[in-house]
Order: sequence, then C-alpha cells, then structure tokens
Amino acid sequence: MALPDGFLEDLKFRNPVEDVISSYVSLKRAGSNLVGLCPFHNEKSPSFTVFPATRGFYCFGCGAGGDVISFVMKAENLDYISAVEHLCKRAGIEMPQSDYELRRGTENDVKKSRIIAANRDAARFYHEMLSRPEGREGLAYLRSRGLTDAVIRHFGLGFAPDEFALKKNLFLDHMKSLGYTERELMAAFLCGKSQKNGRLYPYFRNRVMFPVIDINGEVVAFGGRVMDDSKPKYLNTSDTPAFKKSRTLFALNFARHSCADRLILCEGYMDVIAVHAAGLPCAVATLGTAITSDQARIMARYTKEVVIAYDMDDAGRRAAEKAIALLDSVGIRSKILKLNGAKDPDEFIRKNGADAFRLRLDDSENQFDYRCAVVIQSHDLTDFNDRMACISELTQLLSTLHTDVEREVYIGRLAERLEVSRESLKSDVQRLRKRQEKTKEKEAFRREVQKTAGWGDRINPDRGRMRRAAAAEEAILGMLLLFPELFSDARAPFGGVPGITEDDFLTSFNRRVFTFFAQCMDARGRFDMGYLGEAFSEEEIGRIAGMQVTRAALTDNGTAELRSNLAALREEGAKQRLLEQESLSNEDLAALIREKRGKQQ
Ligand code: CTP
Ligand code: MN
Repeated sequence: MALPDGFLEDLKFRNPVEDVISSYVSLKRAGSNLVGLCPFHNEKSPSFTVFPATRGFYCFGCGAGGDVISFVMKAENLDYISAVEHLCKRAGIEMPQSDYELRRGTENDVKKSRIIAANRDAARFYHEMLSRPEGREGLAYLRSRGLTDAVIRHFGLGFAPDEFALKKNLFLDHMKSLGYTERELMAAFLCGKSQKNGRLYPYFRNRVMFPVIDINGEVVAFGGRVMDDSKPKYLNTSDTPAFKKSRTLFALNFARHSCADRLILCEGYMDVIAVHAAGLPCAVATLGTAITSDQARIMARYTKEVVIAYDMDDAGRRAAEKAIALLDSVGIRSKILKLNGAKDPDEFIRKNGADAFRLRLDDSENQFDYRCAVVIQSHDLTDFNDRMACISELTQLLSTLHTDVEREVYIGRLAERLEVSRESLKSDVQRLRKRQEKTKEKEAFRREVQKTAGWGDRINPDRGRMRRAAAAEEAILGMLLLFPELFSDARAPFGGVPGITEDDFLTSFNRRVFTFFAQCMDARGRFDMGYLGEAFSEEEIGRIAGMQVTRAALTDNGTAELRSNLAALREEGAKQRLLEQESLSNEDLAALIREKRGKQQ
C-alpha cells in the first residue's frame, strides 16, 4: 500500500480525535468519553460521543461514526485523501509523496489531483487572456456589467477566446506545453473530442469564465457565459472526480469566513459577485440547479440563517419555497429577500446601490410571514368556501411552529387578519397538533420495531433475516477492530476447531468487513480504522465504528469472547445450511415423503 509505515498512526497521534472534533462541536466530559450535540443531524440532547481511548466517534442518534479521518471527511465534505491532506496541514506534517495510489478508483481513472492542477492552470490562462488582445472583448463585457478590476481579480474571472474564429489553438497548446495529456484535459471537462476528425477542441470558447473554487481554495469547475443573447447562456463543468455539482456552492470559499450570522443564497454567479462587491462577502449560489439537501447540510455547518435572494418571478418563488423547506429540515431559519422593481440582486444593486440593498436585507420578511402571505394571496377571502380552505391551510401552517410563544403571536395576528376569533383558531391548531403527535408516535413505534427486527437495513440487508448470526458477527468484528492483535489467535485452530475464515460470515456486509480487515492484516500487518475510507462509504464506516464502540467496554479475555461468538456464529451457520437443505424442490420433497412412508409401512 501507498502509505509509508506508521504514517496513519503518526497522523492520528498528532491529531487527537477529541481535539479535532472539539473545534466543530462543544464537547463535555462523560466518564472517559466526551459527548456533545451531533453535527450531522439535529438533536436537542447529546448522543454524539467521542472515544479518546479508541480514537473514534459515534452518534447513537444517527449512526454516524468513524475515526478522525472520517470525521473530517463528513464535516468538511472531503474525500478520503483530501481529509488526510487536511489533517496533515493541521498538524504540520508533510503529505506522503506517493499520494496518487491512495486515491480511490481504477487504474485508468484520471487522478483528482491532475484535474485540480489542470483547472488551476486553465483558470490562470483564462484570467491572463483578459489582458491580451484576444480577450479584449471579454474584459469589455465584464466591465459593462459594472465589475471593477479588483472584483475581476478577486473572483479570478477570465475569458476563453473564440479559437475557432481565430483559427488558433491557444488553450490546447498552452495546456499541452504544461504537460497535460488529452485524457486529463477531457476528464477535467476542459476539452472535448471531435467525433468527425478525433481532434481535441477547447470546451469553453468565446465566453467569460467564472471559476468555481472549493473551500480548500482549489478550482474545481467553471461556468462560461456568452456575451450576447445566444444559447446556451452558460456552459458548466459536469461532475468530475474533483467536482460534485450537488455538493458545491459558488463563492463559499469566501463566504465561509463571514457568514456566521447569515448567508445570502442567490441564483446566479453575477448576483453573488454583485453582492460581494456591495460589501457583503457572505453570498453564495448553487450552480444552475435547485438547492440540494447536501448543499443545505453544508450551509448548516457555517450558519444559522439564510436569506434567500432569488429572482422574483414565479419560478424563483417556487424555488424559494422549496429552499425554505429544505433549509428548515437542517435547522436553518430562512428569510426571503424582497427586491421591488428589480428581477435579481445584481439588477437591484446596479439600480439602487449597495446601501439600499443592505437596508432591504435587514427587513427581509421571515419565512413564516412569507408562507402565510402566499396562502392568503392564493385565496379569495370574500368567498365562504375559499375562506374556509384558507383557514384550514393556515391552521396547518401554524401547527408547524415549534414554540408556544410563536404560535401565540401568529395566531393572534392571523385571527385578526382573517376576522375570526383567536380562541377558535387556537383550538383548531391544538386539535391538529394532537392528531399529528399521535401519528408521529405511531410512526416512531413502527420504526423502532422495524429497527430491532433489522428490517429495512440498507447497509446490511441480510441482518433482518439472520439476526443472531449478525449479532455474533458484529461482536467478533468489534473485537477484532478494537484489538487487531487478537486476529492471529482467532485464525489459528484451537482444540480441534478450525480458526475463523470469511466463510464463517453469513451476512454479506459483515463478510465484506471481515475480508477487508483480513486483507489489511495480511498486507500491512496491522489494522487502523483509517483504512476503512479506502473501501467503505461514510454510512458504512459509521456502522463499523458502531460495532467497535459497543465492544469497547469489554476488554477482559478477548480471545475467549471471540471463540464463544465464533461458536455461536457457526451454530447459526449450521442451522442455515439445514434450512437450505429443507427448502428442497417439490420432487425431492415428494421423494423424501415416499421414502419415509415406505419405512413406516
Ligand atoms: N444557469 C446555467 N445555465 C443556463 C442558465 C443559467 O447554468 N443556461 C445557471 C448559472 O449558474 C447562472 C444561474 O443559473 O448563474 C442563474 O441564471 P441567470 O439568472 O439566468 O443568470 P445570471 O448569473 O443572473 O446571469 P446574467 O445576470 O448575466 O443574466
Ligand atoms: Mn442576473
């Protein structure tokens, strides 16, 4: 394997899990462990636990878990190798040279680091074009949109020349001279290949370029805008090993430093840039798509409040409502920014100036007012039936408020607006809440039953069918992961009983974990939870960490405990095989019955 001996151990030693996590979560001592509110789901009482002794963490609420590396992966939205890089930086350790082999993926995959390098060089190329004759038009366009040279530099904007018209190969020649291969340029989405003559051509041409920069300061993608009304208005990088559109926010690299109070969510690149230029460096945008739940969760790491500054047309309103619901589900309060007389923030600021924009921002409606206004507007209150429908919709909305005080305030306001008595509206809301509570309880009960039965287990689908086997397997794995040195004992025959092998494992996921563990022990002579990132998803790592953590209390005679669990597992295996034999074909069964009857007679 690519990591030098002892590297991960050293990395973890210098990045104690409790130190790293405490810069994200406020932790309190609880015995030898530490607890806090889980950063990966919403909770009111702490079920997120850090185990300094095993250098791991586990949330008993949502099942997130792992070691310091998987924590950083989750918290910073990084892949395995970038998380290792991040921790190296934190501890001032040199990243090992041979980081390529570390990256997941097949041999012929272009490496993420090459794509990032190509993007960085491409961004430089596009930016430098602005000061060359070939880029004169691009610079003129950006200036015509009101951007100063300082803003252009800050965002690293650029221009991709019209190479077909120029009959030149500026971009390609430049990138090749820097050593990039055709495959790398295509994988980075910087070039395409002509189907006609098989020649490479630059993907972005005659467009002003907006580099998308991730929170590590790496250029991961581009948006390129035409300078007239032609279509498509924007070309964008598709997902690459270095870029996932659904998990990226434009300008978060800047905004993350100044958005603790609030973040402004815009629709377009130009809006974000205009808002930053107006002295509010806390604006971000999704990349031409509706906001995703990943993006909402990422925002929740940085802020508690989002001001939604979408276009004020119908589509924008609908998008804003969807965003409110999504942000609400990750615990973010949101407000809608109303910009009268302008279609988007960029236009508003250009028309009315930065001060007017900042004023608007401060009195932007909160989301609840906004939702009520939408409901009221969509009904004709002079019509009896429509009015009743409106009241029932508002009752529904009121029932979603979390605190008594909030409900009290809004019930008062809406009762007045709708000209109904406060008491009747209040009792409607209460009745509805009782009903909802009952359904919720039932739902929770059903889920609990399913969970203990192991049904609906996505990670290990066999668990529901083979509960006892899975329990024994998880006990064994937990022990081995905690005390890898027990493995040689477990593998050796003992008192005529053969040692453990992967064939002992009955459920598919646990078998995979064991196989991976055994491979690590064979290849590297040791095991570390940090290796899991090479072969398992975040969710899977959480499950595996759970197995380890629940074993951490039992430290007495590990080998004996292992053997008794192995015996239990083999008993289950024998039963399973018997069951399989029992599910014979009809003919076999008929034959058996005949045989039996024959004997009886
Ligand atoms: N977008 C896109 N592809 C398009 C149109 C839009 O990817 N064909 C994305 C871009 O990320 C764009 C955002 O959607 O920034 C918002 O679109 P729009 O409001 O049309 O663009 P603006 O950035 O506001 O551009 P401009 O003000 O220059 O028209
Ligand atoms: Mn615009």
